[in-house]
Amino acid sequence: MRHLHLSFVLAFEFHLPQTAAMAGPLIVNTWPFTAATHAAYLSLTSSPTSDPISAVVAGCSKAEELQCDFTVGWGGSPDSNGETTLDALVMRGSDQNMGAVAGLRGVKDATRVARDVMELTKHSLLAGELATEFAIKQGYKNESLTSEYSRSLHDEWVKKGCVPNFWEDGRGCYGSVVEGRAVRNQFNEHNHDTIGQIALQSDGRMAIGMSSNGAKHKIAGRIGDAPIPGAGGYVDDEVGACVATGDGDVMMRHCPAFLGVELMRTGMTPQKAADEAVKRIAKKSTDFSGAIVCVSKDGEHAAAAHGFQNFSYSVQNGGKGEEDVRVIKIQPLTIQTAEQSEQKVLASY
Ligand SMILES: *[C@@H]1O[C@H](CO)[C@@H](O)[C@H](O)[C@H]1NC(C)=O
Ligand SMILES: *[C@@H]1O[C@H](CO)[C@@H](O)[C@H](O)[C@H]1NC(C)=O
Repeated sequence: MRHLHLSFVLAFEFHLPQTAAMAGPLIVNTWPFTAATHAAYLSLTSSPTSDPISAVVAGCSKAEELQCDFTVGWGGSPDSNGETTLDALVMRGSDQNMGAVAGLRGVKDATRVARDVMELTKHSLLAGELATEFAIKQGYKNESLTSEYSRSLHDEWVKKGCVPNFWEDGRGCYGSVVEGRAVRNQFNEHNHDTIGQIALQSDGRMAIGMSSNGAKHKIAGRIGDAPIPGAGGYVDDEVGACVATGDGDVMMRHCPAFLGVELMRTGMTPQKAADEAVKRIAKKSTDFSGAIVCVSKDGEHAAAAHGFQNFSYSVQNGGKGEEDVRVIKIQPLTIQTAEQSEQKVLASY
């Protein structure tokens, strides 16, 4: 009897990875959106079996309600017609089942609608007015997403001739090129647009959630990286998860979240994977601003940024006994051009 008991204990200790007990419950998200971190954490820890999808829906919905300096949710980032449209994504780490909405009009609860797409349908992504129709059928309210703030932002932009904007030729409001005013819209701390959130339950289940109202003065119809799987976010319970924020037009071309997860799959740490995913973009688009946050299945987290002066991310780590949300500041990577690294090599001879 005693012998049996002992061998059971030994087998138990032997077969569980050392880190399993330490990992989770953990919430990590882009930017100092700490209320969203805490909302997700409360959901995740409401029971040991609670679903990490519910946690990221709680967190991203909180960010939508608080509007996060008008960069998430209704009432911010008006498009070239003055309308606010929303992008959101949820993905489950066990099977990559996902739901997303893109260019959602007239419904404030973008992340909840994304979850409905995942849970109620076999589809992955619904877009535009027809996504609104789907949401209304599920009982969501169709209402204006315009606020006093977004209206005045749009009015001022029109007064300035509709620059800065996203046309290569810098054309103004009525198709005329405004000489010398082709000012590219800058992404920075006050125009960061996206919450990307990662949840890791203590049993190893993971999920990601994304929510964004896109880029200020985007050409109407533009969709960012947030609702695009592999670009805005990606998760696989067997490896970990990554979420991205920043210049979504550039970033989505490089699928950085998928790349980050795949690099961790090869054995890279979250830090190395995040650095490499950001460098891969910066090599081709030297002026891009963006960041990526990665979490391994063991609960290790790290981020890399480029162009952003002040990127930060928020963490609440119950697995490490943290009672509060921590905000971690990230120095942007300086990516050397080929010329610079050549000079460095020469100098070291
Ligand atoms: C939502 O409301 C707007 C404004 O009343 C209306 O134009 C639009 O057709 C509605 N959308 C749907 C899908 O019913
Ligand atoms: C970055 O943060 C520092 C100190 O926290 C502040 O002085 C600086 O203005 C910030 N820069 C930007 C671009 O927001």
